[in-house]
Amino acid sequence: MHDYRVGDPSLMVIFGATGDLSARKLLPALYNLAKQRLLPAGFTVVGAAIDDLSDDAFRKHASEVITKFSRTQPVEPQVLKAFLDSVHYVKVDFSKLEDFRALQQRADLLDHERLIGGNRVYYCATPPPTYETITEQLKDSGMTKSAGFHRIVIEKPFGWDLKSARELNRILQRVFHEDSIFRIDHYLGKETVQNILAFRFANSLFEPVWNSNLIDSVQITAAEEIGVEMRGAYYERAGTLRDIVQNHALQLVALVAMEPPITFDATTVRDEKVKVLRAIRPILDGEVANAAVRGQYTKGWVLGEQVTGYREEHAVAPGSLTETFAALRLFIDNWRWANVPFYIRAGKRMPKRVTEIRVQFKRPPHSTFEAAKELDPNAITLRIQPEEGISLRFAAKVPSAGVRLRNVAMDFTYMSSFLVETPEAYERLLLDCMNGDPTLFTRADEVEAAWAFVDPIEAAWRDDRPRLSMYAAGTWGPEEADKLIHEDGREWHRP
Ligand code: BG6
Repeated sequence: MHDYRVGDPSLMVIFGATGDLSARKLLPALYNLAKQRLLPAGFTVVGAAIDDLSDDAFRKHASEVITKFSRTQPVEPQVLKAFLDSVHYVKVDFSKLEDFRALQQRADLLDHERLIGGNRVYYCATPPPTYETITEQLKDSGMTKSAGFHRIVIEKPFGWDLKSARELNRILQRVFHEDSIFRIDHYLGKETVQNILAFRFANSLFEPVWNSNLIDSVQITAAEEIGVEMRGAYYERAGTLRDIVQNHALQLVALVAMEPPITFDATTVRDEKVKVLRAIRPILDGEVANAAVRGQYTKGWVLGEQVTGYREEHAVAPGSLTETFAALRLFIDNWRWANVPFYIRAGKRMPKRVTEIRVQFKRPPHSTFEAAKELDPNAITLRIQPEEGISLRFAAKVPSAGVRLRNVAMDFTYMSSFLVETPEAYERLLLDCMNGDPTLFTRADEVEAAWAFVDPIEAAWRDDRPRLSMYAAGTWGPEEADKLIHEDGREWHRP
């Protein structure tokens, strides 16, 4: 993993430059990198999309979305102006080879003027069905032949199942070297997610207890209070298992459970992660009902506001069986984690937005204090968002005459320790891509191992086995999710 350093000279083509991802994440992240002086000299953006826009019209659009979505506010006019000077636009119909040729000519010209040395980053901020076409057209138009490096960035979802992910890997690898394929899982760009490795491997205190000897179970929660908003059409095909569990949640499992890598280079870190993903015990067809729960929200109240049910959302079928909540229990069959359950829970329209990893320790082997029997055992909570931080729960004596004990927490929060706002995940990821560091991106074998685990669950759910459970918006999911963990004599942590 490299330091946060100025990116290598590059020209970035953003396919789908007029879309939502580009507006909300990519352009604001690039502006913020410019503000931190992390963009390389001569850095150039070429927006490419179907809309017929001039450079100036695209710059105007970029200026508006940066002003609206930048994490740092207010936007600094001089930085913005200098950044916009590096922004250009070419209309591209992805099905037309001649459009890619025109794009190449423009890129070559800018490259020459701005002394970029032929380095290219191709960012596919487009719907998944276009990835294949764009890759083929890049090859056929000679855009992967200039002097310098050629990298491609692919957004999630990466495939819809193991078969399609393999096929996509095959297509990409025909044109790009694996180390030049940057598969985005934006969770990996979050500071708090990277800090999991620092917490575990830069301290001597935690690693000796980080195994089945002392850990009872691990819970991962990724809850959002928002519904599917205007993404009903996408969500209908995806569901929570594909949208969150296959990527973000399993990546968190890998980081919490992996063995210490001998170095922090991309190959070694990802080798260790993929070992975890491969060691997850498959949940086979007959076991899905016992190990996994799916739910869908009906109307309810979230943060004091009345909201509609999923089936009433835009572009959602009235009888939809798509899940907006998933909970599951998995095991990692290796020496370190034998018989330690990992509970995952993810959903939309939960009571609040919170992502956390809770590492639950076992009870002390012998209880000297009668009162301690009533207390919850130690737990470490890694809070990914919001209120990013880490909290350790332990028992302490209440100051009084008798022997009364109570759980207390030792808290670290980013805000109070570092007094800075953490950068957006996309800032880190864009920079790593310019610097050719794929550590925080998922490798082909990781993505495939994650799909191999998810596929049988997905298959059972598509057959409506077991039947979809409903939950009111603003609650923590269907009762079945509670049953799943109660059966094991445990409780979901209420964040
Ligand atoms: C995306 C999912 O990958 O992650 C969305 O497609 C989800 O459905 C989002 O809302 C959550 O990301 P974050 O960074 O807000 O936790």
